Amino acid sequence: MASEKWVFMVTAQTPTNIAVIKYWGKRDEVRILPVNDSISVTLDPDHLCTVTTVAVSPAFDRDRMWLNGKEISLSGSRYQNCLREIRSRAGDVDDKEKGIKIGKKDWEKLHLHIASHNNFPTAAGLASSAAGFACLVFSLAKLMNVDEDASHLSAIARQGSGSACRSLFGGFVKWEMGSKDDGSDSVAVQLADEKHWDDLVIIIAVVSSQQKETSSTSGMRESVGTSLLLQHRAKKVVPKRILQMEEAIKNRDFASFTQLTCTDSNQFHAVCLDTSPPIFYMNDTSHRIISLVEKWNRSEGTPQVAYTFDAGPNAVLIARNRKVAVQLLQGLLYYFPPKSDTDLKSYVVGDNSILKEAGLDEASGVENLQPPPEIKDNIGTQDQKGEVSYFICTRPGKGPIVIHDQTQALLDPETGLPK
Ligand code: DP6
Repeated sequence: MASEKWVFMVTAQTPTNIAVIKYWGKRDEVRILPVNDSISVTLDPDHLCTVTTVAVSPAFDRDRMWLNGKEISLSGSRYQNCLREIRSRAGDVDDKEKGIKIGKKDWEKLHLHIASHNNFPTAAGLASSAAGFACLVFSLAKLMNVDEDASHLSAIARQGSGSACRSLFGGFVKWEMGSKDDGSDSVAVQLADEKHWDDLVIIIAVVSSQQKETSSTSGMRESVGTSLLLQHRAKKVVPKRILQMEEAIKNRDFASFTQLTCTDSNQFHAVCLDTSPPIFYMNDTSHRIISLVEKWNRSEGTPQVAYTFDAGPNAVLIARNRKVAVQLLQGLLYYFPPKSDTDLKSYVVGDNSILKEAGLDEASGVENLQPPPEIKDNIGTQDQKGEVSYFICTRPGKGPIVIHDQTQALLDPETGLPK
C-alpha cells in the first residue's frame, strides 16, 4: 500500500423493493433470520433508489457515514455487522491507472467514508433501509473487490435490515429463510428478471399521516412475542403461498398474483392487530383505497389491480397493464385530488408520462376529471382532498449497478468528504 494521500472510491445505485409475500418476524434478532420466506418486486431505481459512494484512503482516521447530507453514527450493531462481514471478504485491489495498490490485509487498517442519498423523501415512509443497506454492501463489495455473487452479498445486507437482502436483485425476488443457525443459507435469489413481466405498472399512494409509526423492527418483535396468528401464518400459510406465488409469477398469472398479494398484505395487518398491544399501520385512507380496488376488481369480474401495504399507511398498487394503470390513476385523482394550489406534476411523480395518457397534461386539471365508469359506479362520490400527499408511478426494475460517471459521486475525489 502506497503511503501517499490517495482517495479510491466507488459509487453504486440500488433499488428498493416491495414485498408481495411479507417478511414479518425473526427467529434470530442478531443475525436477522426470518420465520418465513418472502417474495418481493424490485421497483424501478429511476424512480426510487439509493445512491451510495464509498471511499477509502490512508488519510481517513475513522469510518464515517453521511446519510442525505447529514453525518450519522456507524456505531450501531447493524452497521458494524455489515462492515465486519464485508471487510473479512475483501480482496486485493490493483488500480494501475490510478497507481493504487491495496492488499487483502490492508483493509483491516484502512478507514472508510460512506455517503448515501435516497432519491425519494425519507419522510414518505417508504422502505429506505432496504435500498440503503443493499447499496452499502454492494458498493463496498465493489470497492474491496469482494469475489462473491449477489446471493452471498444478500446474506450480508440481510444483517443490516432483513428486507435489504431482496434489493440485491432486480425483478422478482425470493428471500429463502434458510434453516442453518449461522444464517449462511438465509439468502435472496432471483425468481425472474424485470423484463419477465413488464406489463405491470406500480402506483404508490404516499398517504398523509400525523401518527408516529411503530418501526418494523420493534413491531415484528412484539408480534413474535404475542401473536398466535403469526405462528400459524409462518408455519401453515406462507409455505404454500410462496409456492403459489412463484407459480403465478412464472406464468404471469395476474389473477392469482393479485389474490395472493392482497390476501398476504391483509394477513400481515391482521397479525399486527393480533399483536398485544395491537399495532395499526393502515389508516382510513388506506382502507378507502382497499375498498376502491376491491370493488373495482369485483365489478370487472377479473382482477385489474393488486394492493399491498407495509408498516405504514402507504398503498402500493400494481396494475395489470398500462391501460388499467391509466384508469386507476384517473380514479385515484378523482377521489384523492391534490390541494388546489398543487401542480399535478408534483402530485404525480416518477414516470409521470402517464398523466398525458390519462388526459391530464398541462391544459386540463383534475376538476374536469371523470373517472372511468368501471370505478365511479361502484364507489359513489367522495372527495378526499389532502389525504394523499402524492403518487409515485413506477414499474418493476433492475438490480444494483455501479455508476461510472464520476460527476455523480457523493464524495469529493480529492478530500473524500461530502461534496
Ligand atoms: C413490512 O426489513 O424493515 O416491510 O429486518 O428489522 O430491519 P428489519 O425489518 P424490515 O422489515 C420489513 C417488513 C415489511 C415486510 C417486507 O418487506 O417483507
